Amino acid sequence: MPAIAIIGGQWGDEGKGKIVDFLAEKASMVVRYSGGNNAGHTVINQYGQFGLHLIPSGIFNPGVTCVIGNGVVVDPAVLIKELDLLHGRGVDTSHLVVSNRAHLIMPYHILLDGLEEEAKGRAALGTTKMGVGPAFVDKMARLGIRVGDLLDKAAFRSRLSHVLPHKNALITLVHGKPAVSLEEIFDAYCKYGERLAPHIADTDVLLEKTLGSGKLVLLEGAQGTLLDIDFGTYPYVTSGSAVVGGACTGFGISPRRIQHIIAVFKCYPTRVGGGPMPTEIKDDIGSLIRERGHEYGTTTGRARRCGWFDAVAARYTVRVNGLTDAAITRLDIFDTLETIKISTAYTVDGKRLENFPASIDVLQRCQPVYEELPGWRTPTHDIRRFEDLPPPAQAYVRRIEQLIACPVSLASVGPRREQTIWLNAIV
Ligand code: GDP
Ligand code: IMO
Ligand code: MG
Repeated sequence: MPAIAIIGGQWGDEGKGKIVDFLAEKASMVVRYSGGNNAGHTVINQYGQFGLHLIPSGIFNPGVTCVIGNGVVVDPAVLIKELDLLHGRGVDTSHLVVSNRAHLIMPYHILLDGLEEEAKGRAALGTTKMGVGPAFVDKMARLGIRVGDLLDKAAFRSRLSHVLPHKNALITLVHGKPAVSLEEIFDAYCKYGERLAPHIADTDVLLEKTLGSGKLVLLEGAQGTLLDIDFGTYPYVTSGSAVVGGACTGFGISPRRIQHIIAVFKCYPTRVGGGPMPTEIKDDIGSLIRERGHEYGTTTGRARRCGWFDAVAARYTVRVNGLTDAAITRLDIFDTLETIKISTAYTVDGKRLENFPASIDVLQRCQPVYEELPGWRTPTHDIRRFEDLPPPAQAYVRRIEQLIACPVSLASVGPRREQTIWLNAIV
């Protein structure tokens, strides 16, 4: 079987981890291809509840090879902590592989993420301050250090000696802070390298073997299309490729191999950090959804902004990813609402707009055109078949499907693996 990509359809936190964990039982490889530990993917299964930042959500299946692809920026300290946490809770992690081409998040990236946000003042992006942006900057500036470099101490030292003066000039001369020490970083990262060495490999060979044997590969996206560096609400975006194209460059898989592209959408989008969100709910219903849905970030604990389903943004996600399927999560959070809104279009400067604009200045002025649908006021978390959902819940899902012109193949009515409903089973 070829590959299936599971990506974020909105501004992240749509429930990608849950859907990947659900599908992983059928897979033989699960790959993270972008982002870093800015991601927080929640999985709830027989081992308990986990907030994974770097390790793919397939890790709970011993027969599944889990890969951190070259497109991910890896903070080795965070990765080791995550490995330890999983070990401590009885999860085997021997089947984790990290691409030797993945770039490392270094201590100066974390420092610079904080300093740059501070320097931006009111224009701060609200990053997770995990060093992800600065690590991607160095990758593109050809000043990055890669996971594979940790395996050769002499080469690593020479690379670090080349890069560090550039970084220290920035830290001391631009930000007026003390320089970071080469020896301290070298010692710490050599230790990380020793610990991670058994996991570090060339992943292209592994992929070829898996695809060649006809086994299923899942490509686990991080963040969401509206946070993508190219297609997101720039500059309020992350620095990696959250769209499906990121899987091709972030893992080295051919687009011809990807048979299904599923975007996960929450039935209400959420956003952490700054940037426009046309359907943000600013009244009591927004707080009600946030509290009922425990909408606080998995990575930073920040309150998530909640909005009504935005079909304009979702159609854009369908287009730029060529989606074959959609998954709708968190239907159960709407169980108590009397009415539900969906934005079908925007108006801006007195004109109707059907397509998601590239400019945030335009997006900021967009007013949603709402359609109102009846709520179902019935608990849904124990329902396992689409036809057993209350008719208004079925109608809500079908209306989304119609508005975004993409089949909804999965619906989710709770955070646990089994609280998932197939509308069209694809595996
Ligand atoms: P990800 O980053 O896309 O993997 O999503 P997060 O894990 O950051 O956030 C999604 C949250 O929604 C997590 O707390 C999940 O446990 C939870 N979740 C996922 N699907 C559902 C659902 O259908 N209903 C409810 N109530 N929670 C869900
Ligand atoms: P998952 O994979 C939600 C947001 C940050 C900030 C912006 C830039 O769990 O869906 P960064 O640290 O990446 O430079 O911050 O991107 N952000 C996310 N929001 N879910 C995520 O990942 C996110 N990863 C980054 O809040 O607004
Ligand atoms: Mg998340």
